[in-house]
Amino acid sequence: MQNQFIMAGVMGWPVAHSRSPAIHNHWIQHYGLTGAYGLFPVKPQELETAIRGLQALGLAGCNITIPHKVEAMKFMDWVDPLAQRMGAINTIVRQPDGALHGFNNDGFGYIQSLREEQPTWRADTGPIVILGAGGASRAILLSLMDEGATEVRLLNRTRSKADALAEEFGSGVTVVDWSERQNALSGAALLINTTSQGMHGQSSLDIDLAQLPISAVVSDAIYIPLETPLLARARLRGNPTVNGLGMLLHQARPAFQAWFGVMPEVTPALRQAIIATL
Ligand code: ATR
Repeated sequence: MQNQFIMAGVMGWPVAHSRSPAIHNHWIQHYGLTGAYGLFPVKPQELETAIRGLQALGLAGCNITIPHKVEAMKFMDWVDPLAQRMGAINTIVRQPDGALHGFNNDGFGYIQSLREEQPTWRADTGPIVILGAGGASRAILLSLMDEGATEVRLLNRTRSKADALAEEFGSGVTVVDWSERQNALSGAALLINTTSQGMHGQSSLDIDLAQLPISAVVSDAIYIPLETPLLARARLRGNPTVNGLGMLLHQARPAFQAWFGVMPEVTPALRQAIIATL
């Protein structure tokens, strides 16, 4: 039985909206552990001092969220190769000798969430359409490639960002112009929205789904609202849908394991607890 008090948290700016404390504290209680997970509002100019503070305070580690995911890499003693390829970290694990190791579990979260909702899903069953070319897109794209995706169509309002991603990740990724997004859906097996469109307070994604096969899985990285206008339209025409909550919950699992020594489960009770905070 663990008897040491273990502390972790999330650094972001702003960070008050983060659901990570609710997730990790739910698991701490569920598994009968002794510890706590807190919110650390860290200004960009104080990031290095705050990260060094992990060592000084003896924290198990922390999550890193917007806007620190890229910058925080600089202060790591070691960065996991996948996170290195993603160019960003979302988790820091303090080693027994005090060294700080950086990881990125966002792509893991997306893949696990898809698997949970669609157990028969495979990355190589057909073309995958990814909308957006920001940080979330990067993590999801890399993870899909690692899962064996053979054809990815990448679209972004600012085409140059999609071109840069495709160039970096090589064969199998085709950039399609944003103006062609309707046609890009033809024959697709999976559609993923990683843009901010459809998020609470933003306008909804402007895309006609007519050409998307009804069998295609439609997923969104957004979790507020739980069902974005895109997912609602997809569901009404008969497509299977996957919302962004699973990605949020599953990305937290490897971090919790690293800090608290238990690989936690995503249970209906956890989902309900987090949905109640949305
Ligand atoms: P994240 O880290 O969540 O991916 P981000 O890096 O800020 O966030 O990326 C936001 C994504 O939403 C980008 O792909 C952005 O497109 P641009 O590169 O053209 O900015 C996309 N996005 C934001 N507003 C959009 C809009 N009105 N229409 C289409 N895409 C939009």
